[in-house]
Amino acid sequence: MECMREKALLVLAFTIILFFPTVWSNIGDNDKVWQERAEEARKEALDAYQDDPIEVMNQFTEHANEDMKNSTSTRRSLKSRRKGDSCLATNPIDRCWRCQKDWAKNRQKLADCVLGFGRKTRGGKGGKYYVVSDSSDEDLLNPKPGTLRHAVIQQGPLWITFARSMVIKLQQELIIQSNKTIDGRGTNVHIAYGAGLTLQFVKNVIIHGLHMHDIQMGTGGIIRDSVDHYGIRTQSDGDAISIFGATNIWIDHLSLSNCHDGLIDAIEGATAITISNCHFTNHNEVMLFGASDSSSKDQVMQITVAFNHFGKGLVQRMPRCRWGFFHVLNNDYRHWLMYAIGGSQHPTIISQGNRFTAPDNAAAKEVTKRDYAPESVWKGWTWRSEGDLLRNGAFFVQSGGPSNHLAMKNLLKAKPGSSVSRLTRFAGALDCYVNQPC
Ligand SMILES: *[C@@H]1O[C@H](CO)[C@@H](O)[C@H](O)[C@H]1NC(C)=O
Ligand SMILES: *[C@@H]1O[C@H](CO)[C@@H](O)[C@H](O)[C@H]1NC(C)=O
Repeated sequence: MECMREKALLVLAFTIILFFPTVWSNIGDNDKVWQERAEEARKEALDAYQDDPIEVMNQFTEHANEDMKNSTSTRRSLKSRRKGDSCLATNPIDRCWRCQKDWAKNRQKLADCVLGFGRKTRGGKGGKYYVVSDSSDEDLLNPKPGTLRHAVIQQGPLWITFARSMVIKLQQELIIQSNKTIDGRGTNVHIAYGAGLTLQFVKNVIIHGLHMHDIQMGTGGIIRDSVDHYGIRTQSDGDAISIFGATNIWIDHLSLSNCHDGLIDAIEGATAITISNCHFTNHNEVMLFGASDSSSKDQVMQITVAFNHFGKGLVQRMPRCRWGFFHVLNNDYRHWLMYAIGGSQHPTIISQGNRFTAPDNAAAKEVTKRDYAPESVWKGWTWRSEGDLLRNGAFFVQSGGPSNHLAMKNLLKAKPGSSVSRLTRFAGALDCYVNQPC
């Protein structure tokens, strides 16, 4: 075992010299399995790409509008019921499952609730349940049954839950396979003080209801990534969640703070992603969508960021975008030190119905920030603000020529920024109890 590790480290040393591009993907050797996964993932990404993003955005808005109508009548009819029964779900994603008393008997119902660019994500739906009962992470090569690492490397769809509340300190990055749901509802699970989650070249993963904080860099080493494969990994960045060339990903109701690198990064042609109902605090570079101005494969990137709460101690990148198409809908921006939404390399950013509260610093009132391009260039990028509520001197600098405006003319009006208090009221990991509406 020791000997194997030494040999692997030697291979690693040569690899760094010979194959710089693969080091970029944390993959140590010139590994054929990973190369196949990368190729497959590229096809999946092109497949998942939506030619008509406006249709996806409008579908979301239609749900929200219909939900608003329904919620008025639901609330009225609930008044007569026992107090403990009343349902507090305040947005269309939550309303799809939270009001059901038997949510814990019907956990996989969650998979029908996603909206936005990640709308086809079903995670581990249709699969067995796997109950994590052991918080340890000692053996990276042969993970112990009952641990989270053992759960996520399994083949086929799997719905992963937790036997009790726990703190999981990952020794190295947790490499998750396709068709998985990690579902923290009903328990208080913290992934903290160690490495983070990696979704590399996989598809169809839901991550729900976790606290993730104080994630550190991992030194790398030999890590099993599936039941039939392991390999050497270089160091991990210290992101809470790294979405690397992965497709159909839904991240919902996480509480995220204080990690070494990003809280959520989506890079290298990752697409069909929804990030919703999350609560972000105490962090510098919050979300990076596209890591490089030269990585044109990020043109397929389509991401929805909705119903999130951006809270205390945040600095920038909520998100910072390149190349792709980004729908930023009904989020509550309470704090930033530098800016909220930024980008380079002509990303399309549609900001709808957000509430932006600028900091008191007169130099940081602008919501937006463009990098590496003069105004003569960025004035052609489509960055639109519709129905946003701008407070404390916040201002959003729009761009995009008349033809871009034309394309947006079919965009439905979202709920206005004034409704985000309600829509984001339960952002972050929820306190859910079995046999009670959550
Ligand atoms: C709202 O109610 C209508 C009619 O009962 C139903 O068809 C629809 O699915 C509901 N929409 C939501 C978002 O719950
Ligand atoms: C994931 O699930 C889908 C649908 O059931 C299946 O076609 C696909 O092969 C699965 N992928 C993996 C990598 O398990």
